Amino acid sequence: MPNWTASQRSSFPDYPLENVSCFAQDTSLAEMFGGSVLVTGATGFIGSHLVHTLSRLGVSPSLFVLDYERQFFPSDATIYHGNLADLHDCLRIVGRSNPDVIFHLAAQPLVDTAMDSVIDTMESNVRGAYNFLEACRSAGKRIKAIVWVSTDKVYGSQPNAYRENSHLIGYDHPYDTSKLCGDLLAQTYAKVFDMPIIIIRSGNIYGEGDMHWDRLIPGTIRSALLRKQPLIRSNGLLKRDYIYVSDIVRAYLLSLSAALQGKLSAGSAINFGAAQSHTVTDVVQKILAALDSADLAPVIQDQARHEIPEQHVDFELAKKVLGWEPLIDLEHGIQKTVNWYMRYFNNEDDLVREPL
Ligand SMILES: NC(=O)c1ccc[n+]([C@@H]2O[C@H](COP(=O)([O-])OP(=O)(O)OC[C@H]3O[C@@H](n4cnc5c(N)ncnc54)[C@H](O)[C@@H]3O)[C@@H](O)[C@H]2O)c1
Repeated sequence: MPNWTASQRSSFPDYPLENVSCFAQDTSLAEMFGGSVLVTGATGFIGSHLVHTLSRLGVSPSLFVLDYERQFFPSDATIYHGNLADLHDCLRIVGRSNPDVIFHLAAQPLVDTAMDSVIDTMESNVRGAYNFLEACRSAGKRIKAIVWVSTDKVYGSQPNAYRENSHLIGYDHPYDTSKLCGDLLAQTYAKVFDMPIIIIRSGNIYGEGDMHWDRLIPGTIRSALLRKQPLIRSNGLLKRDYIYVSDIVRAYLLSLSAALQGKLSAGSAINFGAAQSHTVTDVVQKILAALDSADLAPVIQDQARHEIPEQHVDFELAKKVLGWEPLIDLEHGIQKTVNWYMRYFNNEDDLVREPL
């Protein structure tokens, strides 16, 4: 087990690690196990799971860290402080960490925050994208693969399930636009400068350790544990694919492996989704059922504006090329997630104290 340090909270429970041991035998990942790995966004929700998994696989990554929001780091990780919006930080961190492979996750990822703070969001997600790409370009041919985390929001509003060759028309919301710019920039750098970038486009990710309480799943769990009616920001009918976090971490590792083996060409995008999409209301009901709190009727605020009504991701390519499909369905994933938050909030004081 990795030795976690810098704990701000004694009760941060460990993450369950699933379906990753197969990677220990994957020789195509030798670049990663033998070389240097840089992770951006490592202190975030998905990043912390990725780092936790890498650590379990014996990899000591370098971490590009903006802040210390996250409760733990592996003690053997090398930490570099910096902001993507600062080109000098990007050049310094990529230069010093000298990576063979990169997982680029860092972004301002919240749709409401993007609406309220457009400039900050564009600074991180657009300026941050080209700064980081420039820094990677300046590192030259040493970098063997960059896993670039985009989103299914880049596809925008479309009648059919998104495929990798669907048009990229996701510019109806500042968050979507910011990620679309990053996605396009990554494609351009891959094409023009022959950089080994693989672009990941997935639906919504959920699981243990997401501390963004204004997101649907952690927010609903916290409300229910406080015995408060959960708030639904939208009209409850928005449909999304929900992917359990260990499934997406496995997707990143498989994508890296495929990139290193030349099974995915530079600049290609790959989709990850769920077998079925669900409405927001459906997800809330499942959480309430898992917490035996079906009596707490959700409050539909109907305040979400400019959000894509229905999203569904076709992940046939991931199935075919990577052999990936989601292994944890929504009920099971929600139950595991709920169990983790119940351990995290081990008493009512913790629940009330947790900043929103
Ligand atoms: N969570 C989801 O449902 C989901 C779905 C699809 C794609 N994504 C993408 O996955 C990535 C990770 O999302 P998350 O949910 O873990 O979010 P998160 O907020 O938990 O993590 C984001 C990380 O990025 C870092 N960061 C933000 N701005 C930065 C900057 N200017 N410089 C350096 N670091 C900065 C933060 O410190 C944090 O570590 C994002 O790129 C997001 O767009 C998330």
